[in-house]
Amino acid sequence: NTRVLTGITTSGTPHLGNYVGAIRPAIQASLEKNVDAFFFLADYHALIKCEDADRIARSRLEIAATWLAAGLDPERVTFYRQSDVPEIPELCWMLTCVTAKGLMNRAHAYKASVDQNVAKNVEPDDGITMGLFSYPILMAADILMFNAHKVPVGRDQTQHLEMARDIAQRFNHLFGQGKDFFVLPEAVIAEDVATLPGLDGRKMSKSYNNTVPLFEGGARALKAAVARIVTDSRGPGEPKDAEASHLYLIYKAFAQQAETAAFRQALSAGMSWGDAKQTLCERIEQELGPMRANYEDLMAHPARIEEILQEGARKARAIATPFIHELRQAVGLRTLA
Ligand code: TYM
Repeated sequence: NTRVLTGITTSGTPHLGNYVGAIRPAIQASLEKNVDAFFFLADYHALIKCEDADRIARSRLEIAATWLAAGLDPERVTFYRQSDVPEIPELCWMLTCVTAKGLMNRAHAYKASVDQNVAKNVEPDDGITMGLFSYPILMAADILMFNAHKVPVGRDQTQHLEMARDIAQRFNHLFGQGKDFFVLPEAVIAEDVATLPGLDGRKMSKSYNNTVPLFEGGARALKAAVARIVTDSRGPGEPKDAEASHLYLIYKAFAQQAETAAFRQALSAGMSWGDAKQTLCERIEQELGPMRANYEDLMAHPARIEEILQEGARKARAIATPFIHELRQAVGLRTLA
């Protein structure tokens, strides 16, 4: 069977970018035949960006409810919390010991932080933790722990997947003795929506504060966010260039080809931005509306979610525990009887 795996960092409220880049394609993949799917809440990753314990707990609940409301079937999928699987940080350490520091020096997220510091004229590593620096190794451990073949992600994760392959290869080479412990994972990127833009046209991201929330705040919050999408100043009746508008790109991520073509036509025929926003809202709501009631119900019953996650942890560890023993043996640690 093909193993499909993906995770979301529990440091904020899930947004449309998470949905079209990861959640929707991952759930579709999990419904295919001969697929074993592993979806998880990356709460160890959240510690890298967030020092607010309550926010992490809240985000974890929101993200769990989002996955389930979007159609994840916990009977079919192994759905778990990263921090319930202690084999993952253990594997992370083994991988850390074979990963070149130079590889991490090249990570985009780390380099971006260094560049910002340089621009601000402070020490290059100012405020950068070892967690941020070695973040891609933890992500590699997530993926390699379950030997995932395919990892549905947004384009922003491409480099992390390349690094996971590098690290896997290195480990196989050092310890495999002809046997490959790890398969080399592949990123699966939905090309049409590889990077969903946010309100201001930059990548939709918690860190840019330009997101449209998926379910939180209800249809009203969705509407309010859509109203804040930045457009050009062309008025009603003036032709608009759809391809140059991120509002159009967001619409495209939710609509069928024919609808998208009609929307583009209407814009070039002078549809007002106000009407365009209304149309966008209705289209998104058509897809998300039916899931939202389920989301709200789940949020009101956290014990139900907890039970699902504990069962998921049990299933995940049934795979992780024997595998980590094998790896312990390979690197020369005491093997647990
Ligand atoms: P995170 O939490 O930032 O984002 C979760 C997923 O959402 C995708 N995404 C987007 N896709 C398209 N357009 C956007 N604007 C957009 N914003 C976010 C991301 O690409 C990602 O797929 N390191 C990961 C979490 C992680 C992980 C893993 C993923 C930890 N371990 C193992 C896969 C496999 C992250 O921070 O994603």
